[in-house]
Amino acid sequence: MSVIVDEAILPNPTFKSAWDTIKTDSAQKERLIAQSLLALTLRRSFTFEQMPIHGLIVLSGEPGTGKTTLARGLAHKISEALTGHSVNFMQVDAHAMTSASLGKSQKEVTKLFTQTIPERANGKALIVLLDEVETLAADRQRMSLEANPVDVHRATDAALAGADHVARHAPNALLIATTNYPDAVDRAFLSRADLIETMGPPTAEARKAIIQETLDLFGSKWSGIDRLKSHISRFASEAEGLDGRALRKALIAAAASTPTTAMNPGKMTAEQVSHAIKRAHAGRQAKKVAA
Ligand SMILES: Nc1ncnc2c1ncn2[C@@H]1O[C@H](COP(=O)(O)OP(=O)(O)OP(=O)(O)O)[C@@H](O)[C@H]1O
Ligand SMILES: [Mg+2]
Repeated sequence: MSVIVDEAILPNPTFKSAWDTIKTDSAQKERLIAQSLLALTLRRSFTFEQMPIHGLIVLSGEPGTGKTTLARGLAHKISEALTGHSVNFMQVDAHAMTSASLGKSQKEVTKLFTQTIPERANGKALIVLLDEVETLAADRQRMSLEANPVDVHRATDAALAGADHVARHAPNALLIATTNYPDAVDRAFLSRADLIETMGPPTAEARKAIIQETLDLFGSKWSGIDRLKSHISRFASEAEGLDGRALRKALIAAAASTPTTAMNPGKMTAEQVSHAIKRAHAGRQAKKVAA
């Protein structure tokens, strides 16, 4: 199984839309860009001892809060800011690495950090998305050695040593890690992060923006959607508590209310949208109970 699940050369329009898609505090977006640029510029000029920057940013938060999407968008924004230089991007599947056969995980992790990343960051900025990093850098204290083979423990050790190696020897590399389970990530890994940002469900303003954007997208293909726009504030308050993914899915589900609306989403009614939002809340509740 390959550990690199996506690669791209940035800037790239698909990645730009990822950044715009996520409606979050503009101050949070600005912090992410600023920290990323600082990590890339300072590490080129100073030693790790002078400026102990790891070039590691962590996005933490519940499922569906936009972490992976924002991380990909951030990679694009960094490439835009570094004008005149293209940037390499790669996304790593932590599960693939740690589910490798016994004894292999540690080797895979070490190879990633000491070989693959430094090679690709040679003379060129490289953004590495370590998605769902709790599998890669699992908290060693929480691990029972019976339930979790020694191999996993060693993989975490390798990830820590790997992050240190990248910090010192691959100053052009920036690691962006995401996690649903910050408590399951090894504390030593989190302490290496230069910035940890927590993402939550969208605010009222963000919910309105998501709804507006989705209705505009439907409206660009089907007429009739404009009728719904006077209800946006109501939909946004009904959607309070839904994560961004659940809200986008609810709006799509509204279009699937009947075969008629499925063929022509322009015919969706405000009641169908409200009903779909209600169902999304019920679905979330059911998932919580099951979990
Ligand atoms: N704040 C938000 N604004 C707009 N859209 C959002 C927001 N949060 C999530 N979404 C939408 O939800 C979808 C899922 O987002 P994404 O996969 O990035 O979430 P995630 O936090 O990585 O989830 P998971 O932890 O399950 O991997 C995307 O299509 C994204 O556009
Ligand atoms: Mg994700």
